Amino acid sequence: MDTIIVDMKAGIDEKAIAQAGEILRAGGLVAFPTETVYGLGANALDETASEKIYRAKGRPSDNPLIVHIAELQDLYRIAAKVPEKAELLAEKFWPGPLTMIFQKKECVPLKTTGGLETVAVRMPDHPAALALIKAGGGYIAAPSANTSGRPSPTQARHVAEDMTGKIEMIIDGGSVGIGVESTIVDMSGDAPMILRPGYINREMLEEVIGEVGIDPAISGMDTTARPKAPGMKYRHYAPKADMLIVEGTEANVVSYINTMITKELQEGRMPGIIASEETKDRYVGGIIKPVGSRMDELSISRHLFAVLREFDEQKVSRIFSEAFDTPVMGQAIMNRLLKAAGHQVLEV
Ligand code: TXA
Ligand code: MG
Repeated sequence: MDTIIVDMKAGIDEKAIAQAGEILRAGGLVAFPTETVYGLGANALDETASEKIYRAKGRPSDNPLIVHIAELQDLYRIAAKVPEKAELLAEKFWPGPLTMIFQKKECVPLKTTGGLETVAVRMPDHPAALALIKAGGGYIAAPSANTSGRPSPTQARHVAEDMTGKIEMIIDGGSVGIGVESTIVDMSGDAPMILRPGYINREMLEEVIGEVGIDPAISGMDTTARPKAPGMKYRHYAPKADMLIVEGTEANVVSYINTMITKELQEGRMPGIIASEETKDRYVGGIIKPVGSRMDELSISRHLFAVLREFDEQKVSRIFSEAFDTPVMGQAIMNRLLKAAGHQVLEV
């Protein structure tokens, strides 16, 4: 299959959106930018189309997809029960990087929800995504547009690496703004619970609806618990090289990583370092990548997955990363980093 790449970096191309909408309505696949990461879209209400997503990604079929909508009223056609608290969150954060889980209605195929009686719904905050959803019929299932197990794509180039020849179209909207996937909150039970941390953090949610729980399997407190979002159990975002996160005071972290770099170089290997703008000049060697500045959290989240992909290409021997417990997105960033590192962390 030929994969068409359409450039919408400068704005929406109405003709191409109409063509993309036709592809989706006919059961095909279109990758598109959102504010979080690139999504791989298909008609969510067509089970054959959803199946194609699993095939293109090599994704386990028990891992449910998020249904993307463009208008609030469309939520009520697919969610059986929308609690008042969910309406408050939608009003405050949609369109935006928040996904909510509801009891599903009959019209949502089990293929889309990975066999669950619940459905995840999100309204992305990106003009091309919203135009595409409308053109494609209103309900677009879209996981991150990466091959299963690779870091989520934050540029169209990453999507092309993983999906060329497997999907009909890629809409290039340039680099995304946030860079880690949406916050997922389960609104289908008695108490709201965060299943995946993202840009919208617990405090922001609690300001709107009061107490919100966190799935113990993702808080890091309980490593034996089974996560409630099936996708969270997989070792996502795994770089090819072994990765270690080094935590502690800046001086200790830099000094420990420098010792390890020296050792790797002496043994003829080339390590990679995930540094910050503030520390990048203090490392003695290896491939040093400043992911962003600690003064600007979004600069870190936005570049994180791209850095992991670059290390794959450069075939580094090992990756050493600083920890990034930043004030707003610290939990989301560390959740992705910890997964990439297979939870290998060293306190120094
Ligand atoms: O930011 C995002 O959410 C991006 C963009 C493209 O919108 N999408 C995304 O999709 O990250 P994906 O498929 O990579 O991650 C979806 C996560 C998985 O961990 C999945 O298990 C969980 O959402 N999920 C989906 N439906 C669910 C449900 N009904 N119950 C529990 N977890 C669910
Ligand atoms: Mg994903």
